[in-house]
Amino acid sequence: MKEIKDTLLERRSIRRYEREPIPADQIQFIYEAIRNTPTSYNGQQFSVIDVTDQELKEKLYELTQQKQIKTCSHFLLFCADYNKISTLADLKYIDLPPFTHTMDGIIVGVVDATLAMMSALVAAESCGLGTCCIGYARTAAPEAVSRLLELPQGVFAVCGLAIGIPREKPDLKPKQPVSLIVHQNRYRNDDMGPELLDYDAEIREFNRTRSGATTDNDWASHIIDYYRHAMSYHMLDALRRRGFDANS
Ligand SMILES: Cc1cc2nc3c(=O)[nH]c(=O)nc-3n(C[C@H](O)[C@H](O)[C@H](O)COP(=O)(O)O)c2cc1C
Repeated sequence: MKEIKDTLLERRSIRRYEREPIPADQIQFIYEAIRNTPTSYNGQQFSVIDVTDQELKEKLYELTQQKQIKTCSHFLLFCADYNKISTLADLKYIDLPPFTHTMDGIIVGVVDATLAMMSALVAAESCGLGTCCIGYARTAAPEAVSRLLELPQGVFAVCGLAIGIPREKPDLKPKQPVSLIVHQNRYRNDDMGPELLDYDAEIREFNRTRSGATTDNDWASHIIDYYRHAMSYHMLDALRRRGFDANS
């Protein structure tokens, strides 16, 4: 098992995997790590679909165009889940407030599911496995993914995580310096422009010189292009179809 420092600081997204299953004890460890995730109020408003059926993985690939899903050993879909608490509330004749119709209710589910994904990611990485988060599992075809995996009302996909035995070791991507990410005591009020420009240039240099396919992308334009593309996602409509809404 890797040291925690290497697990966290040497992590990079892995998109190519050996066509081999993960050892059973490792996936059990990943499940236990998911289970012990801290959650808001200990509400545990999340569930995970572990997709190992190759036919289902191929279908998810067709819906998302993310190859990692069909080549990984386990594709875990992390979902916000209010179905379980509603089922129990019904059984115990407890009135459930319309928490799923508040922004905070939605945020609670998203945070719980995301932290669970990070537990799985760290556990998998500590075993030397490769991982890649797949946001397209939420955005590419929300209704079709929900139907395919038979998600009930009150459950929506937040993010996927592909896990497999690594078949590549891409260069570590440079990240923003600590000074831009961690603000001391209060939000920085000095000019962050020069440091942001330096980081933008560092990413462009990395993209020009990294091993494998190179590009001329800087950071800002490239990320903003993704956001421009994401303007066509209509998550609120998708959430409404899953039984969520936000009016407060
Ligand atoms: C929430 C989330 C969603 C992501 N979705 C995708 C995705 O759909 N496809 C993909 O190839 N990578 C995806 N990634 C991986 C990011 O592209 C990657 O983490 C980022 O480029 C930084 O690279 P690194 O993980 O190697 O440090 C996602 C990452 C996160 C955290």
